[in-house]
Amino acid sequence: MDTDRALFTPQLSVVGDVGVDLVLGSLEGWPSIGTELLMPRSELRAGGSGANAALAARHIGQATHLISAVGNDHFGHWLAEQFTGIRTHLEVCDRETTISVGLMHSCGERNFFTTHGHLQQLSVQHVLKHLHATPVPSIALFTAPFLLPHLRIRYADLLAEAASRGYRIALDTGWPPEGWDRDEVLGWLPHCDHLLINELEARSIAGTKDLDDALTLIAKALKPGASLVVKVGARGALGLEAGRRVAHDTEPADIFDTIGAGDAFNAGYLSARLRGGDLAEALAAGCRTARAILARFPRKTIRAGEFADCVAA
Ligand SMILES: Nc1ncnc2c1ncn2[C@@H]1O[C@H](COP(=O)(O)OP(=O)(O)OP(=O)(O)O)[C@@H](O)[C@H]1O
Ligand SMILES: [Mg+2]
Repeated sequence: MDTDRALFTPQLSVVGDVGVDLVLGSLEGWPSIGTELLMPRSELRAGGSGANAALAARHIGQATHLISAVGNDHFGHWLAEQFTGIRTHLEVCDRETTISVGLMHSCGERNFFTTHGHLQQLSVQHVLKHLHATPVPSIALFTAPFLLPHLRIRYADLLAEAASRGYRIALDTGWPPEGWDRDEVLGWLPHCDHLLINELEARSIAGTKDLDDALTLIAKALKPGASLVVKVGARGALGLEAGRRVAHDTEPADIFDTIGAGDAFNAGYLSARLRGGDLAEALAAGCRTARAILARFPRKTIRAGEFADCVAA
């Protein structure tokens, strides 16, 4: 529900994917076909990178607006109830809700099995209807373009339109299930104030194995003055801004459930930016936020604002 207060508070708007995640673990090895295994840990929760980022923002007390979609079924109704405390506009699509089963392996790796579902139908019209012109500094985080075909075909225009409405643009591309179209992604970069990707995505977008070369190439393609952030898993994150490189090393933690690591990082990083934090401060806030959220299982026990100190520090 819009309120005058919500409209005039600097906020994070998230435009991305929302779905149902069933997280199970841990597997010691891949089972034989036809067998049954009992999983000691499981959680059914809202997932997808847009939902993960919005929920992480709620956990750190960041005012957030989530623009996404749900299916027209039981899970769609259930999902819509998972975002209390977040200003939410979910398009109801006439499809079954996208469901992802995430299997955690004891070695730390994971597998996902995901249905196409409703994400095929999130429309540009819905996004533009709810991404109002903002009179205060705000950031719009765009996630998972490869899972959102209607947005994807007009993505550069969508990013440009959001910028013209007063938002700084953050993009987390995620991984394209059907492989990279580098020219397509390079066409999005000039619209980005913050590009938030992982190491493999950086090498893939740049088309080079050398990370330094990849950073240089990508940084040149971004909006002048933009920040390039590369998440490097348990090692932390590094950033490049105005030719200056900053690294934030994190203390690796033994984590059962790393799903949404990058999204939690994005929430902490962008929240710090909205508060005027510089690159180094925002990298640190992103790493603190990710670490705090990843360590908790099940995630649904995290209260709104419980991890506010991750960005307030
Ligand atoms: N084992 C860990 N211990 C501590 N922090 C971690 C660990 N794994 C990830 N993180 C934190 O999470 C952040 C994001 O993780 P990662 O680099 O895996 O992003 P990603 O590949 O985009 O993740 P995702 O798969 O969610 O998209 C890291 O920068 C780091 O701060
Ligand atoms: Mg990621």
